[in-house]
Amino acid sequence: MVSETTLRPRQLILPMFVGEGLAAPRPIASMPGVVQHTRDTLRKAAVEAVNAGVGGIMLFGIPEKRDPEGSGAVDEKGILNVALRDLRSELGDSTVLMADTCLDEFTDHGHCGVLDADGVVDNDATLRLYAEMGVAQAEAGAHVLGPSGMMDGQVGVIRRALDEVGHSETAILAYSIKYASAFYGPFREAVDSQLKGDRKTYQQDLGNAREAMRELELDLAEGADMVMVKPALSYLDIIKAAADISPVPVAAYNISGEYAMVEAAAANGWIERERTVLEVLTSIRRAGADVILTYWAAEAAAWLD
Ligand code: PBG
Repeated sequence: MVSETTLRPRQLILPMFVGEGLAAPRPIASMPGVVQHTRDTLRKAAVEAVNAGVGGIMLFGIPEKRDPEGSGAVDEKGILNVALRDLRSELGDSTVLMADTCLDEFTDHGHCGVLDADGVVDNDATLRLYAEMGVAQAEAGAHVLGPSGMMDGQVGVIRRALDEVGHSETAILAYSIKYASAFYGPFREAVDSQLKGDRKTYQQDLGNAREAMRELELDLAEGADMVMVKPALSYLDIIKAAADISPVPVAAYNISGEYAMVEAAAANGWIERERTVLEVLTSIRRAGADVILTYWAAEAAAWLD
């Protein structure tokens, strides 16, 4: 009667991976139960997730070929744009279709942006590519774009580019507060990441909370329709702080390393899997997240139904 926190299927967003040129789904060893889909299995799994009641899908694409500019990201024949078209034609408006708007899957150096002559990520040159990528994704049918590269100014640049070509209804879920976390490890396997080194020149310092609020305010001023905190579990205080001041919905990304830890412990019989998953998701909602991106979205939605 007095329970304070709801956990509903519509509050869960399923991140999905599609691999170019795959003949069969490719398992991701560090994320048991998660795969790189073929175009066909992606369609089927997306329909199942939507039928289970998830609120949305966040799609990542893994190309066969990469280059320094990540040109597969803006190419309408690039795997992510092709798969967005597949999903939009399959699902229409029955779910919220979201696209990862970032170059890291497409660059041969694995960084989220292009590099300058010294090999450092060039923020402003990257913005131009994000604008093109965002437009390509909107044309391909994404309802929501998820700029995840933490370049300064990315939300504003994408917003203007969308509006200029008439995609004023495409929304932006800004990855506003994204920390340079070790918990992204399994994701790097999931997308065959080419990254050497780290992302500390553009993602946030783990110890900084005040800076997170500044990042949030900048994205709001640039036109973010929703904001995200990422990762989730080690940053519940940040989710709470964001939820306290944000005038737009707050998302939290329950990321790959958080998933892998629970799966590994459960596989060893050290914790009860279903109870633990629901406790994790409830805690993120209790902290103040309106929606949660989680690899358990479809399964948890079915349990909650
Ligand atoms: C980068 C991106 C990352 C994730 C989503 N988008 C990884 C990174 O910043 O290195 C991580 C998601 C996860 O770990 O589940 N575009």
